[in-house]
Amino acid sequence: MYELLDTLRRDPDIEAPNLFASDTADRLVLDEAAGALSAAGPGEVVVIGDRYGALTLGAADAYALSGIRSHQDRLVGEIALAQNAERAGLSDRFVSLPLGEELLTGARVVLLQLPRGLVELDEIADAIARWADPGVVLFAGGRIKHLTRAMNDTLAVHFDDVRASLARQKSRVLVARGARRPVDAVPYPVLVPNAELGLVVAAHGGAFAGATLDIGTRFVLEFVDRAVETVQGLGPDATAIDLGCGTGIIAARLAERHPGLRVLATDQSAAAVASASATMRANGLDDRVRVVRDDGLSNQADRSAALIVCNPPFHVGSAVHTGVALALFREAGRVLRPGGLLVTVFNSHLAHRSELQRLVGSSEVWGQNPKFTVIASIAPPT
Ligand SMILES: C[S@@+](CC[C@H](N)C(=O)[O-])C[C@H]1O[C@@H](n2cnc3c(N)ncnc32)[C@H](O)[C@@H]1O
Repeated sequence: MYELLDTLRRDPDIEAPNLFASDTADRLVLDEAAGALSAAGPGEVVVIGDRYGALTLGAADAYALSGIRSHQDRLVGEIALAQNAERAGLSDRFVSLPLGEELLTGARVVLLQLPRGLVELDEIADAIARWADPGVVLFAGGRIKHLTRAMNDTLAVHFDDVRASLARQKSRVLVARGARRPVDAVPYPVLVPNAELGLVVAAHGGAFAGATLDIGTRFVLEFVDRAVETVQGLGPDATAIDLGCGTGIIAARLAERHPGLRVLATDQSAAAVASASATMRANGLDDRVRVVRDDGLSNQADRSAALIVCNPPFHVGSAVHTGVALALFREAGRVLRPGGLLVTVFNSHLAHRSELQRLVGSSEVWGQNPKFTVIASIAPPT
């Protein structure tokens, strides 16, 4: 029934023989929702957290649905969905939208790939209960190893009835009905004053580290002023980029301390970009920092930035995450002006220095503590 799922690709995300564009949780969600999808009319189905299009395109194809609204946090997932739809001739069956009222108004069926974080799940469940049709049914699937009892509890804050499906091929679906419309104002992004930073940090549910200061970020902040001094000879209107900005703490620090810099904060996550934008507004920095959603630095010209600061995603032992970090370093090497500087922080056991040397230029350790290493890499002068 879902032959289409076997044809999907992850591109532009990393592709490898052991990485797949759909999984058993996608199929189980589509099966558990079969009755609801068959009965749904145009514009009544919403998909949230689809990875590469399995849920959106699986529903469009198998149930001849149109007017599907889809929200994905990751830009690479959104691009993969668009490309998969193009190949399958299904581009006219869905639209991609941010998490919010336009996505959910009138929705009667919501398909969800459960996020890892409970705060992210809370924000999604709040949005569904707030804006979808009161009779909405949510089908939220995931691999059993990633599911926790706390996810049922989080859904139960927003829905009267939450039940788990039988497990199949190591996956399970939580089905939620009886949405309780919230009466309070939308609780996201949270705004938290951080005395150590002297900043208000804004965070949506899916943003890295929430509204807290990550310890790797804290360490790299110690080197931001030195980085700006090192590149100062490059002109007064130099551009500095916070690559993979999350809630935008590094960009805010750069803008606050160095009014002469043009600062760009960029991330592929919709939650990060919305959070960083809110952080800038909360600190009166929104006219000084441009925040954009981008995969790496794909919208930035070659040799256009004087300084890039990056706290890349890393996960111990994950080839995928190392690959993401290296892709970001490669992008930094392309976008830095001659003599420009990349300052990056990572877990000390990750041997990134030789890669930085190769992808950016001469690389020097600026700092090391028991957990993290900060390396400054200079792009060749010509
Ligand atoms: C470790 S977090 C750092 C966040 C923030 N700079 C901080 O220090 O708190 C890494 C960030 O990189 C972002 N990211 C991952 N892959 C990316 C990509 N291909 N392009 C842009 N950003 C990416 C993630 O969404 C995440 O926000």
